[in-house]
Amino acid sequence: MYETGRPLVVEDVELDPPKAGEVRIRMVASGVCRSDWHEVRGVHPMPTPIVLGHEGSGVVEELGEGVEGLAPGDHVVLSWLPYCGSCRRCASGRPNLCERLGAFDGGVLADGTTRLHQGGTRIHHNLPASFAELAVVPANTAIKIDRSLPLDRVALLGCAVTTGVGAVLNTAKVQPGRSVAVIGCGGVGLSAVQGARIAGAASIVAVDVVPAKLELARGLGATDTVLALAEEDAEPAIRAVLPEGADAVIEALGRPSTIELAVRVTAPGGIAVLVGMAPPEARVALDALTMVYQERTVTGSWYGSCVPPRDLPMLAGLVASGALRLDPMIARFRPLDEINEALASFERGEEARTVIAYG
Ligand code: APR
Ligand code: ZN
Ligand code: ZN
Repeated sequence: MYETGRPLVVEDVELDPPKAGEVRIRMVASGVCRSDWHEVRGVHPMPTPIVLGHEGSGVVEELGEGVEGLAPGDHVVLSWLPYCGSCRRCASGRPNLCERLGAFDGGVLADGTTRLHQGGTRIHHNLPASFAELAVVPANTAIKIDRSLPLDRVALLGCAVTTGVGAVLNTAKVQPGRSVAVIGCGGVGLSAVQGARIAGAASIVAVDVVPAKLELARGLGATDTVLALAEEDAEPAIRAVLPEGADAVIEALGRPSTIELAVRVTAPGGIAVLVGMAPPEARVALDALTMVYQERTVTGSWYGSCVPPRDLPMLAGLVASGALRLDPMIARFRPLDEINEALASFERGEEARTVIAYG
């Protein structure tokens, strides 16, 4: 991406070898996420030029100095969140809030430089920068997975699945028999639906404006669906299924109106989990008194509150066992040349995940 608001350009650029603590990956696949679309449109501004793509899987090709636990040929899923492993938050099990993450701000690697460039111009990394055939990433973001898993499909673990399942299991800590509502059933929301099923939720209400998404949600574990075409109809329709609201509500779109809906339909003692990324200037209103006497919680969930080396292998195990299904979430595979068409499909919202496959 050379410029915000312009189509991505597919061309050859230069990639330096991995430095200490880094690895080079040959990409096999990259999911296309709504966050990429936000970045292309400038909703979440990025430094340019930059290689986007943050839902990748591939094969380790080369190790930088001092990298342990990985070898060339290993199959890996790529996390988009580097972390130091030793700061206070990492040590307390929250590497998604690592205090030293700032080192990567502005699309650079840990040493403040980029491995990508074009002649003298440096090109930034939106880690792992998976809209490219090759990438250099911090070694602790490359998580080894079993070779028996379909590498082109497990790319989804890099963002949507970890975010959606993690919001349910790690952030909301949904217990068996509870009720869950999921607002917005794209890659992230459908993953949350699956997370709710895996957690043993008794009621799983899926909310979307596209009937086909609700069909998918039903196939993946939703017990009830709500077609929320007119915004004012959504709350009564959810309450028709769950009169008290849901014990956990996952908002997986990122709009103020659906965030407010999520908070409103949270049951007494329940939790609303904000997963979708709203524009930076977005503000929402909540019924303050009800929050108090119903002891409701509203929380954010960043990357599913995940600990990558703990959770990505766990999720891979759920794929292997069949509990987590990736195929129904993938609408289609496309070559990298069609990246702009893949991004534009978020405008219509009709398709689930598109995956870029590298031949
Ligand atoms: N009510 C409910 N659902 C809606 C509404 C609405 N008013 N409007 C749109 N939707 C649905 C879309 O039909 C779509 O199925 O929300 C879903 C959003 O899914 P995707 O566009 O596929 O987005 P996804 O990649 O899943 O990301 C969801 O999480 O990581 C963040 O930045 C990301 O904010 C985004 C969110
Ligand atoms: Zn994403
Ligand atoms: Zn840290």
